[in-house]
Amino acid sequence: MKHRVLFVCLGNICRSPLAEAVFRDIVERRGIADQFEIDSAGTGAWHVGHPPDSRMSATADSHGVSMDAIRGRQFVSEDLDQFDHIFAMDRDNLHDILSMDSSRTAGPNSEQFRVRLFREADPEPGDYQVPDPYYGGDSGFENVYQIVDRTCRALVDSFEDLAK
Ligand code: 4NP
Repeated sequence: MKHRVLFVCLGNICRSPLAEAVFRDIVERRGIADQFEIDSAGTGAWHVGHPPDSRMSATADSHGVSMDAIRGRQFVSEDLDQFDHIFAMDRDNLHDILSMDSSRTAGPNSEQFRVRLFREADPEPGDYQVPDPYYGGDSGFENVYQIVDRTCRALVDSFEDLAK
């Protein structure tokens, strides 16, 4: 059975598509890509159909990770059923995802546990949020890359530990 993994941010042009691309790159390198279905989405609709932000994809390229195949799409409530693990980049994203979850109550095995802040897996979690680089300078994109890279490695490690 595949792990269905979804990364969610606001615009789906910076943080979550980067997480999608980095996570995919890691599982491909480790030879376990066939165990995963990987996608990303944004809670907002501004960038539906758009390629990733060129500053974010240039940063990814500089680390040998391509975001070329990714296009923006909006998070929909059906995603709550389609994915086993939904990782929100910040607390606003988490709130917006959970607010679309009309049919479920909080508790073990509920959405509260399947839908989590991405940086809960970060060994250096800071405030548990991936900062939005969109309106900042270029250094914000490298910072986001470092956070996303180390958190995705830790996440893939935890999936591999589960399989042992
Ligand atoms: P993202 O960054 O959520 O990491 O994709 C943003 C991109 C675009 C906008 C906001 C955040 N925007 O307002 O257009």
